[in-house]
Amino acid sequence: MTTRPTALITGASSGIGAELARLFAGDSHDLVLVARRARPLEDLSAELRERHDVTVRVFARDLSEPASVPDLWNELLAARVQVDVLVNNAGVGLYGPVWEQDADALDRMVRLNVGALTTFTRLALPGMVSRHSGKILNLASVVGYQPAGPRMAAYYATKAYVLSFSKGLAMELKGSGVTVTALSPGVTASAFEERSGASGTRLYRWVPAMSAKAVALAGYRGMKRKKTVVIPGIIAKLFSLAGELPPRRIALAVNRWLLSAGRSQR
Ligand SMILES: NC(=O)c1ccc[n+]([C@@H]2O[C@H](COP(=O)([O-])OP(=O)(O)OC[C@H]3O[C@@H](n4cnc5c(N)ncnc54)[C@H](OP(=O)(O)O)[C@@H]3O)[C@@H](O)[C@H]2O)c1
Repeated sequence: MTTRPTALITGASSGIGAELARLFAGDSHDLVLVARRARPLEDLSAELRERHDVTVRVFARDLSEPASVPDLWNELLAARVQVDVLVNNAGVGLYGPVWEQDADALDRMVRLNVGALTTFTRLALPGMVSRHSGKILNLASVVGYQPAGPRMAAYYATKAYVLSFSKGLAMELKGSGVTVTALSPGVTASAFEERSGASGTRLYRWVPAMSAKAVALAGYRGMKRKKTVVIPGIIAKLFSLAGELPPRRIALAVNRWLLSAGRSQR
């Protein structure tokens, strides 16, 4: 019987989530990997099993579907899989004025970035608390520290939720043996920029990107050290600090400017 802890990682098919999976596997964790695309999950699973001799379970699921999280959790319970570490990493962005955004895509983003993360956390906590042991790593963002993000208003609001939820939860769980870490990266090289439609903005054109690998490592180390907040890199640290400095209308104006369409967009 294996004595390795199990980490469930959402959004493990690319970017930061895939790099986190490599770190957990390298540190002798069995894995439950979740995302919509089966192929990259299977490829990663094969890589990790070969390199690290760990057990990897793959679930190709759309976590923006309301029943997907409880359904998956029940499958794990039925298979007697105990989740020792929960990594709520899956997330998408959506660029453009809210009234022009596709209503379904907007709903799905909120259900994924906020809903799935909250439900997974709620379902994982009773077991962790009763065992006096467990870790939750939530992917927030430096945008969660900003007053708001015109043209990415809903996305910024979802990350403010993740940050606030994680900080509040970390305090609720003090002394329980369960820790919560909110990882808040700045601009990170991944598929996110292209998929969110934000590539042409000053933010993505001008601000240097960190690698997904470096971001994942900072988050992994911060989680191990039981830190509540982790902001990787000096640029992200300055950006998050500037977002909170009063008067916050200055930061709001800067965010509006950074998110306005750049030269590559009309
Ligand atoms: N890149 C940045 O600049 C940046 C900065 C700050 C914070 N973040 C946050 O970091 C996290 C990871 O993003 P990333 O940069 O690594 O981008 P990414 O490479 O696009 O990764 C996003 C992951 O989420 C999964 N995903 C998307 N929609 C899903 C759904 N409906 N159901 C299940 N899984 C879904 C994707 O897999 P499938 O497509 O296979 O489903 C993918 O594995 C996100 O929460 C993002 O908000 C990113």
